[in-house]
Amino acid sequence: MLVIGAMSLVLVSCKPDEPDIIIKKTNVDTSIISVSSEMPPLIIFPDNKLSKAGIELGRFLFYDKLLSEDNTMSCGSCHNQAMAFTDNNKKFSEGTQKKLGNRNAMPTFNLMWFDSLFWDSRASRLNQLALMPIKNPLELNTTPEAVIAKLKLVPDYRMKFKNAFGDDSITTQRLAFALEQFLVSMVSDNSRFDKAKRGEIKSTLEEERGFEVASQKGCFNCHKTSLFTDNLSHNTGLDLSITDKGLGGFTGKYNQEGKFKTPSLRNVALTAPYMHDGRFETLEKVIEFYDHEVIDNLGARNISFEFIEQGTRNRISPSDTKALIAFLHSLTDINLVTNPKFSDPFK
Ligand code: HEC
Ligand code: HEC
Repeated sequence: MLVIGAMSLVLVSCKPDEPDIIIKKTNVDTSIISVSSEMPPLIIFPDNKLSKAGIELGRFLFYDKLLSEDNTMSCGSCHNQAMAFTDNNKKFSEGTQKKLGNRNAMPTFNLMWFDSLFWDSRASRLNQLALMPIKNPLELNTTPEAVIAKLKLVPDYRMKFKNAFGDDSITTQRLAFALEQFLVSMVSDNSRFDKAKRGEIKSTLEEERGFEVASQKGCFNCHKTSLFTDNLSHNTGLDLSITDKGLGGFTGKYNQEGKFKTPSLRNVALTAPYMHDGRFETLEKVIEFYDHEVIDNLGARNISFEFIEQGTRNRISPSDTKALIAFLHSLTDINLVTNPKFSDPFK
């Protein structure tokens, strides 16, 4: 494992109407976080310095049911480590009082590199996102203030906040910062694919063939290596008439309706069902969709041009489908789903 520790400036991609974020990278203690050399450079948020105590506090908060209205649920209830932090094969998640949500739970790894968060990109930074599930009526359905009041009654948290932030005051901002630190620490870069790239193991012929098929079919145009997403939103032609407006619902722009953030292909073998609404139960079904079910809604909505250009509507043969699936399975990172650093401390 290698860390990019040199002083340099990184310009993180900016969306129109938003200020550029200039992030200054500084030397980082590799015992706190390390990222392998194939991944993009580590991103440091200067206003929220990573520390072991901060990450550990974030882990407790992520799994603490005090974050919900009736102390029955935590972030971890819908983001299960064993499923690469998605919700137990559920199409939609249930919040408190069994209220049913309307989108498929997303995995929560490798998020320091994204400035578009949620399926519709309505959040742009993790510390901003962190309080949203707490307030969401279909998720934890409470207020950050109510959560803070409960945390203040737990002596152990006073100590943990002090270790993380220097004094024992428990505030909404610190709650968000600690959750951000834990989410930043959740790096997934140790799959068979990564190990083969680093020369530690050799991929199987079928995995290699699957990688070629994915390149030929244009999958990597959007699911770009090494994060396997371009951090952009696309209309993949799932429906002729759009019900969930996705990005367009957030921005109010008609030509962005039906666009959703490109999910990473990393750990995708563990995160069924698929797409923003969990409509496909298996990877085979997803590939069948790309092969011959894409609806050309170009006239009605702005389907991504390159999608059709790259010939993804050509038939993918059964043996190529098998290879593609073997390749997708090679993106599973056992370390992510078993590492005690990311596990539930209350169990
Ligand atoms: C009731 C289930 C549920 C709970 C509880 C929950 N989430 Fe989520 N999470 C979801 C769903 C569903 C989505 C996708 C929502 C969307 O895009 O509209 C999501 C999306 C996310 C994302 C976006 C990932 C990405 O790639 O953009 C992050 C980060 C996240 N949740 C973190 C958390 C944190 C932190 C908590 C606790 C404070 C939490 N979640 C609590 C269901 C849940
Ligand atoms: C035009 C960009 C684009 C191309 C090309 C593309 N994808 Fe996707 N992919 C997306 C988007 C966007 C989604 C989410 C769509 C949604 O939920 O509405 C997605 C979803 C997926 C999912 C489901 C992931 C999940 O977590 O739900 C898989 C698997 C997948 N794509 C694999 C592929 C493969 C294999 C190819 C090549 C045959 C491919 N994609 C080509 C943009 C693209």
